Amino acid sequence: MSDILVSISGLFKIFGPGAQNALAHLRQGADPAVLFAQHKWSVALNDISLQITQGEIFVIVGLSGSGKSTLLRMVNRLIAPSAGEVYYKGAAISALTDAELIALRRHDMSMVFQSFALLPTRNVLDNAAFGLELAGIDVRQRHQRAMAVLEQVGLAQVARQQPYQLSGGMQQRVGLARALAVNPTLLLMDEAFSALDPINRREMQDLLLDLQAQQQRTLIFVTHDIEEALRIGSRIAIMEQGKVIQVGTAEEIINAPANAYVRRFFSGIDTSRYVLAENFAGAFSRPAAGGAHDQTL
Ligand SMILES: Nc1ncnc2c1ncn2[C@@H]1O[C@H](COP(=O)(O)OP(=O)(O)OP(=O)(O)O)[C@@H](O)[C@H]1O
Ligand SMILES: [Mg+2]
Repeated sequence: MSDILVSISGLFKIFGPGAQNALAHLRQGADPAVLFAQHKWSVALNDISLQITQGEIFVIVGLSGSGKSTLLRMVNRLIAPSAGEVYYKGAAISALTDAELIALRRHDMSMVFQSFALLPTRNVLDNAAFGLELAGIDVRQRHQRAMAVLEQVGLAQVARQQPYQLSGGMQQRVGLARALAVNPTLLLMDEAFSALDPINRREMQDLLLDLQAQQQRTLIFVTHDIEEALRIGSRIAIMEQGKVIQVGTAEEIINAPANAYVRRFFSGIDTSRYVLAENFAGAFSRPAAGGAHDQTL
């Protein structure tokens, strides 16, 4: 299908001494816990296949250590797989030359980190412009573009300030602006809002949704917070111990959790607000033959 941006096929990642030897064991169904106990092989990803569609916010959720960051970092190849392949726009990432890979990371894919990763000695504008600087864009042009994205994230008025003068929420807006400045097709976000307080976190989620409504990039967003996933995800993948247990919309996963691990994520959460209101309306007022386009909400 032409609208698939990233395709992940049979991906494995094992850390540890002589980890390649672990593959044969895993493929024969060995228990990763046993492999760790016997050989100190740590199975971070265990046969993952996924497809990410252009324009979606694809959220990866799982407990700590389930392999979320490892999976995300394989998309721009900050980590190389033990086996399997990642395809971007149909091309195998492993087949790219170093120069092509660098170009891909500078122009097509941007990353936003939990730790903000701002340069402390540069002002907000130069931080937002940093990716453009790496890409060799001249100073006037990059400042112009960086100012435009700072406006989008509501920070134009602090462009000349230093990062330390900003709150955590504002610093992460700079991190987002820096990622957006290169106009990437794909944004990779690893726990990007997890260091923020609940109010700032929600504001950032709203900002992301607003920007997404205008720009329709593709996002892969890692979080351990199921409410964040339900709120912003077009689709959600739930990971457990290096495997993807379930992929679906919030509604699909809420209505039919694949197992007890998935169900546990929802305990104590009011899931009803994440189930589309039109379904309730449809149950009462929509004609049975009504298609997706004649909803009255
Ligand atoms: N460089 C490494 N060397 C050895 N083991 C590693 C390395 N990186 C990750 N792992 C292991 O791989 C597994 C998955 O790690 P990963 O960081 O992808 O999990 P995560 O879901 O992102 O967790 P968290 O929510 O804590 O960030 C863990 O067991 C981890 O200890
Ligand atoms: Mg992680």
